Amino acid sequence: MTIIGARPQFIKASVVSKALRNQGVKEILVNTGQHYDDNMAKIFFEEMGIPRPDYNLGVGSGTHAAQTSASLVGIENIILDEKPDALIVYGDTNATIAGALAASKLHLKLIHIEAGLRSYNRQMPEEINRIVTDVLSDLLFVPTQIAVDNLKKEGIVNGVHIVGDVMVDALMEYTEVAETKSDILDRLAIEKKSYVLLTIHRPSNADNNERIAKILEQVAASKLPVIFPVHPRSRKSAESLIEKVSDHVRLIDPVGYLDMMLLEKYAKMIVTDSGGVQKEAYLHKTPCLTVRGETEWLETVRDGWNYLVGDNLEDISQLMAQFPEPKAWHSHYGDGHAAERIVKILMS
Ligand code: UD1
Ligand code: UDP
Repeated sequence: MTIIGARPQFIKASVVSKALRNQGVKEILVNTGQHYDDNMAKIFFEEMGIPRPDYNLGVGSGTHAAQTSASLVGIENIILDEKPDALIVYGDTNATIAGALAASKLHLKLIHIEAGLRSYNRQMPEEINRIVTDVLSDLLFVPTQIAVDNLKKEGIVNGVHIVGDVMVDALMEYTEVAETKSDILDRLAIEKKSYVLLTIHRPSNADNNERIAKILEQVAASKLPVIFPVHPRSRKSAESLIEKVSDHVRLIDPVGYLDMMLLEKYAKMIVTDSGGVQKEAYLHKTPCLTVRGETEWLETVRDGWNYLVGDNLEDISQLMAQFPEPKAWHSHYGDGHAAERIVKILMS
């Protein structure tokens, strides 16, 4: 049984569900329904051929306790009915921790995909979700050696497998599809390598009007067109501020994965606070500024493709004007076959 609920989990599950089903594994797919707008959910199922969930818990928006507890109760009921052999959770959202708690209390084998990541910042709700999920997991599929080392520091060594990152699998498969299917650059009338892509959704930025205003002001200083697919969490603040900033910052609705792959690949630069987007920037070899004080994806910073500007927002315009030449690029995150490896280990 697999638990998903938020946008990045739909993307991760797309490749693993396919690999499981190719091996004849019966998968019961449970969507907690944390993300529910068509452009935060449905579009990914359609574009990426994700199987229709067997259950949708319709959890929706709410406080952490409301989302987590509704997911927990719903998942427990389904486990009791369906009696699966094991439960898969992805990443670090409230769906992840709910799945982890439900499975472990019912003595069900728990599998965590994208385990071992740490920001060492417990102000982030995701950090709590990761720590709890990892400590409860029987099998931990990690993307990198840094993740293995993080787990070791917490005494977690059994059941840990480095398999690479399933997001690389998705990126490699769907960027190729996007090249023929997406017309996003034409639709937005932008040229390759002559625009900036902006995404903001972390509560530390999105729920702070002053910070969002500063970020928009800094990004707008570049004079290049800025494309900003607005996550629903930042919608209100971004819309209320945009007129004061500049007319070359363009707010658009969240886009599907195919459009996003091209927007990332052909951007001159990406400014983001997303975990997935900063890593995809590295994979597409697009320079990135991350509007946070720390990152789980240290390799991107060490290689000079990603700068953390969380504490000094004034650095944004300066680094946009002159981004230092990156130092190196390695396949830290795998070769695009992480999902196959995961399924092979599960089968054995
Ligand atoms: C969640 C995850 C975060 C992940 C992000 C991916 C947790 C704790 N956080 O954060 O780790 O990086 O998803 O995008 O699980 N909303 C809508 N429509 C939707 C979904 C949300 O309007 O379809 C609005 C609601 O006002 C909601 C707000 O966005 O209150 C935040 O949504 P929520 O799912 O609580 O958290 P995210 O910020 O999306
Ligand atoms: N993404 C997308 N459309 C958008 C914004 C993001 O398809 O408008 C994709 C992005 O390419 C990445 C994933 O969503 O694969 C990242 O999700 P998000 O930024 O919501 O969450 P995080 O990775 O920070 O948890």
